[in-house]
Amino acid sequence: MSAFVYTDGKLGAEGVTLADVARTYGTPCYVYSRAAIEKQWTALHNAVGTHDHLICYAVKANSSLAILNILARLGSGFDIVSAGELQRVIKAGGDTRKVVFSGVGKREDELEYALDHGIKCFNIESRAELLRLGKIATRTENRAAVSLRVNPDVDVATHPYIATGLKENKFGIPHTEAFAIYEQAISMDYIDITGIDCHIGSQIMNLDSFMDALDRLAELIDALEQKGIVLQHIDVGGGLGIRYHDEMPPSIEEYARVILEHLGDRKKQLVIEPGRCITGNAGVLLTRVEHLKQTTHKNFAIVDAAMNDLLRPALYDAWHDILPVDEGESRKGAATYDIVGPVCESGDFLGRERKLAIDEGDFLAVCSAGAYGFVMSSNYNSRPRVSEVMVDKGEMFEIRKRETLDDLMHGEVLLPDD
Ligand code: LLP
Repeated sequence: MSAFVYTDGKLGAEGVTLADVARTYGTPCYVYSRAAIEKQWTALHNAVGTHDHLICYAVKANSSLAILNILARLGSGFDIVSAGELQRVIKAGGDTRKVVFSGVGKREDELEYALDHGIKCFNIESRAELLRLGKIATRTENRAAVSLRVNPDVDVATHPYIATGLKENKFGIPHTEAFAIYEQAISMDYIDITGIDCHIGSQIMNLDSFMDALDRLAELIDALEQKGIVLQHIDVGGGLGIRYHDEMPPSIEEYARVILEHLGDRKKQLVIEPGRCITGNAGVLLTRVEHLKQTTHKNFAIVDAAMNDLLRPALYDAWHDILPVDEGESRKGAATYDIVGPVCESGDFLGRERKLAIDEGDFLAVCSAGAYGFVMSSNYNSRPRVSEVMVDKGEMFEIRKRETLDDLMHGEVLLPDD
């Protein structure tokens, strides 16, 4: 559930109203609650309890420096998928020894950059990648700690674009081939086998899929151990779903309990790579109603945020609750609207068929936008990327400035004169 709730008819968090944020910083803008982010991270940390563990927050979910910094202060590790994300972690004060590097297509320069910074582990997704890392590690005389990302081939009920644990997906090493690649890796110079990992998808509502994946990993761990290959950690990836509307995701506590149960008495460090469940419900996208447009078929509320600011509805047909920031503000009765942006695409909507009592000039909050929101935004239609604001104990801080029109053309040059 969103961390932004109504108090006396005004939507806000931590004693700050979203109307105040909108008036101070303008719209569109993303707004996050520090307390909500900390609460989620700490809940997971506590739920795993005394079992040796490391939470590696999935940077891709929301990579703003202030957010990474909040998590670094809690002692979090990070799951990265690019050199850019590693640089962000470093800038935000994160500890590179707590970084795991995921992704199917790590470039040579990215591997080298991460090796130089002594990251905890490379999550390897293919034999080719293992060989590439081996070469770079040998050339630079840096030891590389390695885990194999195993594709457990388990079915996950989620949007097909964000399911990753089936054999037809590009991710990971088929669980049937992993053993042979471990055997190869063990004989390589400068490669240290330290773990095993998987990530089966995102926005997962059902613990069964996690259990199936864990069972597959556990089988492999045991088989490897019989061959004398002893792993230090098991990384179960991310994927725990959140409530956007009326979903009933497992609680963080249930999720942790099931993982620990399935680990059994294997004395391995547990690594978890959560993204969405840490930041998703800690953020909203704040937007202003520009026009109300009635046609014979439909009512449209045209707002100043668009698919370039929040892509999830257009890309996955994802639902985000849309709420007026001020319940009492509107003079009109409720009507049913499609909430759409100014971008020139019919797919540019933030929500469809929403019953709202709104007027032009009202502010709306698109809820649960703290994960995969700003990070997936673009400059499509030459729209500057929006600002980001953090509310923290009654205060608000602009953690990213809105891009200017000049920023939009940064780095571009014209061809020389004819
Ligand atoms: N670890 C790996 C290797 C991943 O690929 C991901 C997400 C995570 C961890 C974090 O998963 P989470 O806990 O956030 O579910 N853009 C999509 C989501 C893509 C997820 C990609 N991988 C969306 O907006 O729903």
